[in-house]
This record gives sequence, C-alpha cells and structure tokens, in this order.
Amino acid sequence: MPGRDAAPGFLLRRLACARGGLASLAKRTQLLKRNTERGGDALQVTAIAPVGGAGVIPKRIAETVSARHLCCTAVRNRPPRPSAHHLPTFGTLDMLQIDNLVFNGWGRRFFDSATVSLPVGAKVGLVGRNGVGKSTLFKLILGQLTPDGGEIGLPKAARIASVDQEHPATPVTLLDTVLAADLEREALNAELETAAPERMGDLYARLIEIDADRAPARAAEILSGLGFSTADLARPMAEFSGGWRMRVALAAALFAEPDLLLLDEPTNYLDLEGALWLEARLKKYPHTALIISHDRELLNNSVDAILHLREGKLDLYTGGYDDFEKRRGEKARLQSATRAKQEAERAHLQSFVDRFRAKASKAAQAQSRMKRLAKLEPVAAVIEERVAPFTLPSPPRPLAPPLLQLEGASVGYDGKAVLRDLNLRLDVDDRIGLLGVNGAGKSTFAKMVAGALALQSGHLKSDGRIRVGWFHQHQIEALDPADTPLDIIRRARPDDSESSRRSRLAQFGLSFDKQETTVADLSGGERARLLLNLVAMVAPHLLILDEPTNHLDIDSRRALLEALNNYEGAVILITHDRSLIDLVADRLWLAADGHIKPFLGDMDDYARFVLERARAGVRAPSQHLDRSVAPVQQSARRRQKRSAGAGA
Ligand SMILES: Nc1ncnc2c1ncn2[C@@H]1O[C@H](COP(=O)(O)OP(=O)(O)OP(=O)(O)O)[C@@H](O)[C@H]1O
Ligand SMILES: [Mg+2]
Repeated sequence: MPGRDAAPGFLLRRLACARGGLASLAKRTQLLKRNTERGGDALQVTAIAPVGGAGVIPKRIAETVSARHLCCTAVRNRPPRPSAHHLPTFGTLDMLQIDNLVFNGWGRRFFDSATVSLPVGAKVGLVGRNGVGKSTLFKLILGQLTPDGGEIGLPKAARIASVDQEHPATPVTLLDTVLAADLEREALNAELETAAPERMGDLYARLIEIDADRAPARAAEILSGLGFSTADLARPMAEFSGGWRMRVALAAALFAEPDLLLLDEPTNYLDLEGALWLEARLKKYPHTALIISHDRELLNNSVDAILHLREGKLDLYTGGYDDFEKRRGEKARLQSATRAKQEAERAHLQSFVDRFRAKASKAAQAQSRMKRLAKLEPVAAVIEERVAPFTLPSPPRPLAPPLLQLEGASVGYDGKAVLRDLNLRLDVDDRIGLLGVNGAGKSTFAKMVAGALALQSGHLKSDGRIRVGWFHQHQIEALDPADTPLDIIRRARPDDSESSRRSRLAQFGLSFDKQETTVADLSGGERARLLLNLVAMVAPHLLILDEPTNHLDIDSRRALLEALNNYEGAVILITHDRSLIDLVADRLWLAADGHIKPFLGDMDDYARFVLERARAGVRAPSQHLDRSVAPVQQSARRRQKRSAGAGA
C-alpha cells in the first residue's frame, strides 16, 4: 500500500529508553543506520540514553532512519497510549522540565540559567521578540542543538512531534499520508498481515483500544478543518503546492497526537478560516502543546499559559496574551516602584552614614546603617524593549486620481481565469483590506496590480509613472540562503556608499552583526523585516502587502501599523491579522467565486461570513483551480522572480 512507507513531513522524535543502557543503544543506532542505507523516505529519529537522574535526558543520538523502521521501533518501545480519561491531571506532573538552561551561539548568550516546567496537558504559547531564540529553544528541546549548561528533561518515552517543514511532494494520497503519522496504528496493521494466529487477538484488542477504525474519519476531519475538500483526500501529495503540504504536515502532527506537540508559528501558512479552526482544535488538544506564535487571537483563544522568553530567561504566566501583557505591565510597574523606593532608602542611609561616620557618639548607628546598605538587594531597572520602527517613505508627488482603474478585467494562468470581469477603482490614498480564503485569488490580484501578471482580457488603466511596492511571502522563500542583508542591499543600491548602506540596514532594525549573517541563519522575523523595508524603500505610490505580519513579533506589528498610518500612498492589505485590517483598512474588498467585490461590513461580519460558509461546506471553487494550476503558477512565479531579480 503506497501510504505505508511514506515518511510524514514532520519530525517525530521517539524519545525511547533503551533498556540495556548505552551499549544496546549504540547497537540499535547502528541498526538504524543500516536501515537508512536501504533507502525509503527518510525520517529523523532521536534515541535517548537513560543515563543521569530519573526522568532527565542528558544524551541524545540523532539518526535518520526509514519510516518503516521507525514503525518497528515505535512498536518495540511503545509507551501505553493514555486515553483521555487516564490523563494525569493538569499540574500534577511535568511534561517538560528546563533547568538552568544555558546556551551560547553566534556570538551571544541566548539562555542564561533559564528554568521552567510545563505541566502535562498544558497548552502554552511561547512568545518573545523576533530573533530572541524561540525557534532555537525548539531545536534544543528536539536535540538538534546541545545546551552549554543545564538540562532539558522529558518523561521517559514521551513522544514529541514538531512541524518544521512542508511534507514532501510524494505520490501518496493525502489521507494515507496523514494516517501514516500514527505509527502505532500503521505498525499494528502491518503486523496483522504476517502475525501468528495466537498474536492476532492482542493486535485486534489494541486496535480497538486506540479506536483505529475511526482513524480515517479523524484524519479527514482534521484535513477538512485545515481547508481540504473531500475530493482532495484521494489526491497525491505531489499535486499540492508547498503551502498546502505544510498544512498536511500540521494535520499529520495533530492526528498523531504526540505527548508534546511543538508548533512554530502555525498560522503563518493558514488563512483566517484555517486559523479559526486551529484555535478551536488546539484548545481541546488532549496532551501538552507548546506553540510559538505572534498571533494575538490564537494566544488569547487557545492557550492557558504564556511562556515569555526575554534576556535569556523563561517566565511562565497563566492566562492568554492579554492577561500576560497586563501582568507584565503590572510587574514592570511594581519593579519600578520598588526600585524607586529602594533608591530613596539608599540615599537616606548613605547621607546618614556620610554625616555621622566621623562622629563618635553616632558611630554605632552609622555602622548599623552601613550594614543595612550592604544588605539591600539591588532591584534592576526596567528596561523598555524598544523595537525598530518601519520606514515607509511616502511618494514625493501624488499622481492624478484614479490611481488604478480596472474595467472588465480577467486574470489567471494558462488560459484559465482565476478572477473574471473585475470592475474596480483605486484612489491615491485608498486603504483596501482584501479578504478571501486561500486560493480565492487575492495574491493573483496583487500580482496583476503589481504588473507581474498580464490581463487575459479587459483593461487596467494607470498613470505610466506609478511606482508599486509589492511585498509577498514568496519573496522570502526566493531569497538566496547564502546571501547576507549587505549583499542584498548592495545590489539594490549600487550607487550608495557602504556606510550609508549599513546605516540603512541598521534603520531597518538589523544590527551590525546581522548585516553579515546569511539569510539561512536569520530568524523568520529578521527576514520579513529586511524585505518589507526593501520593498518600501522606493517610496511607492501603491504599497501592496500580502501577509506582511507573518513572522513579525507583536511589537513589530504595532510598529508596522504606525508606519502604515503615517504613509501617504495607497495600500492594498492582505492579511489574516484581523486587528491589523481593522486598524488600517477603510474599505474591504472580498475575493470569492472568481470575483472581487466591495464587502459591506466589518471584520466581525467577515469572520461570521467565513464560519457560516465553512459550516455549510462551501469552499472557494477557485481554491481547487488554484491548486490544480499550482505548477503553472509556480513557474510563473519563478519567471516573475527572475525578472524582478533582473530589475533589482
Ligand atoms: N546558524 C546561525 N548563525 C548565525 N546566527 C544565527 C544562526 N542561527 C540562528 N541565528 C540567530 O539567532 C537568533 C535567534 O534565532 P531564532 O530563529 O531562534 O529566533 P526566533 O526567536 O525564533 O525569532 P522569530 O520570531 O523571528 O522567528 C537570530 O538573531 C538569528 O539570526
Ligand atoms: Mg522563529
């Protein structure tokens, strides 16, 4: 069966305890290696040697093995899968124990005696500034990086899954790909084919216990929540674009229900509809989940605690993001007040000591005050975390209205229209929020307005002098991983001096050392910041921002909002960030059913509209069209990237 040997696109690390200690672990590691050589889709597995204190996992050996072998390993070391009613109660046990973690890398200290424990069953949002080291923490937990000090402990045999890359474009169907993520079920089914009759009873009993019969229905439900139609389930993975395969990887991780689920900014590749579904799903996730996110809605609706990474320390706050912000504000105010009080006391004691130290009659009192002074624990000053602002230069001279006028315009790929009969007008200071599910044609529209995709029919009228700045996620993907920000700006500003290029990058929020870090090593937020600023650098008359906030931390989102409000050109904004649309857009357009039309209502009306459509099972018909033409789109994208690169 094709699905059986396919590796899921997420890393499943089997944290298994080798009963025979290190020697047998080493033997098994060799065995794993041999399996890799045999071929098959590769998966990474991390074997853990149980040396050190109970429950502490000090040593990891990572190997790449075939999915088939992983199934066998999974069965051999299978921990009892707890059913929902056997779950340890929240707070009585820890799933993740981080003790005095120290990690230094790339010239700085990321973790400085960070300590935290996450109880079993907790849903925790991991937050912190771009580049602070959140994704690095995931790598440390997964054993891809080694701490310089301290320990990261997990219960013996805990299953961890993380979604860190799209699922490969295999010929396996979508449903089989997701089903294969439940390694135990897969292995039980495989064993059934050859098992001795006396073993059959046990196998069936376990299959019933894990509700294996319902597995396809569960997988289908998850896939549908993430935006796939029933017909999609039987299609091969290879038919879907990278973004959609990322969703499959997420579906596989959710389906496998690991004991610890690690998600790194999952809403970045979802539309509003998918994000709403995921919020609800995570809330009732039966095990522990740690989710890196800059999405305020998700952090308010899905998690019961916020883990804040700042200055090398991890602080856990119960509640959602709004609670966290409030509590942090209170904490900072309290800290400032305590510090002010202490400074006053210190000054008072010091002046007493200075005045009476030399006076014999007061010498004893002065001595005791000196002791009190020495005992005062210094309270650190509250350092405001400042985020670099965005620079969005306004166009020097406005053009005559209208900026753009579309008449009976159709646009699409390969002779097929994605959007038809568009009649729209854009004025010089319009702020349009463009809504619509993934695949409805929003990005196609953006591409056409940016002049990167020709009309199939109709007219687009605009002033020949119009300058358009177009930011979209594929630009980030298209960056050469070996380039540095300095290389990129050298090409974009060939006539500038090196020092003015460097100061421009510093203005973008990229410090001196980041300017020479390769793109591959920049964090997601740093890359997004670089590109957004580059696009805006030309002072465009029209700024098209297609999902600009993906990867940006919450304060950077606020900075972008401020910059947008000061920018004087026209804006077309595509984002699943509801609050950003609310605050920027003064008109909404909706892409649906092959058209773009003004949407009369606000974002709450739109959220209701989306959920009602989802409930009624209506998916954008163009969504399928979009995906069926994905290869064409991609090559169009590549062509367009090349021409953009040539123009830069
Ligand atoms: N191999 C490397 N070489 C140099 N710098 C690196 C390397 N890997 C990571 N960094 C730097 O370490 C910092 C932390 O990266 P990390 O990806 O953990 O950030 P993050 O908190 O996940 O940020 P974001 O919110 O933007 O995703 C970043 O400044 C990044 O540029
Ligand atoms: Mg990150």
